[in-house]
Amino acid sequence: MKKVNVASLLRMKTDKQKITALTAYDASFAQLFDDLGIDVLLIGDSLGMVLHGANDTLAVTIDDIAYHTKSVRTGAKRSFVIADMPFMSYASPKQAYNNAAKLMRAGASMVKVEGGEWLLETISGLVERSVPVCGHLGLTPQSVHVLGGFKVQGREQSQADAMLTAALALEEAGVQLLVLECVPSSLAKLISDALSIPVIGIGAGCDTDGQILVMHDMLGISANYMPKFSKNYLAETGDIQASVKQYIDEVQTKKFPGPEHSFD
Ligand code: KIV
Ligand code: NA
Repeated sequence: MKKVNVASLLRMKTDKQKITALTAYDASFAQLFDDLGIDVLLIGDSLGMVLHGANDTLAVTIDDIAYHTKSVRTGAKRSFVIADMPFMSYASPKQAYNNAAKLMRAGASMVKVEGGEWLLETISGLVERSVPVCGHLGLTPQSVHVLGGFKVQGREQSQADAMLTAALALEEAGVQLLVLECVPSSLAKLISDALSIPVIGIGAGCDTDGQILVMHDMLGISANYMPKFSKNYLAETGDIQASVKQYIDEVQTKKFPGPEHSFD
């Protein structure tokens, strides 16, 4: 059981082996997902929605994420642990450094930030200061009020071109992983092929280098909603362990996400 790290994730992309990821917020689920072979665990700011029951992620604080990161770190043995930087915790580079330090000290091995060009200085500064960074483009939920809802991004050609440009710029700035959320499958494939770093998709089709789902969504137990791009594995299997195993198998064999969970 070798620990997953940025080098092995990169190798998985090169070897065309799909990366499997789930969100986790506590030690018990972290350990269960880890035992079953999930490669990446994300302490997502989705916890505002699935743990707190809010309609968006904006109220989540750095202390919330740090608290759950400690628990996940305790449960995770092999999986790679990424923690979300919440809304306004990286508005300036200096804020980002201070807040990323809290998450790294809580046990994260990488932090995730939402956004494109405006973040380049912050990202290169974090990497220079020894904090690995994951980017996040497409539907960036912290911007929900600017975007006017949780909507597919990059359907217009100009938007798609801008997303590709931003993805390349993030890679150049030093991100070692990129999440693409709710983008047309063809655009997600284009970006995945254009980048050397692994791209993890959610609502981004089956051609990204890996997949992530919010754990409550894949178990069909989320409080307020069920996104189109998710799949209720618990309804299908009747068992949590079997749900995770089937998710892993379907991601690795490109059965998930199917067209019904994707956008064009
Ligand atoms: O907060 C979260 O769970 C996320 C994933 C959906 C990528 O950012
Ligand atoms: Na998030």
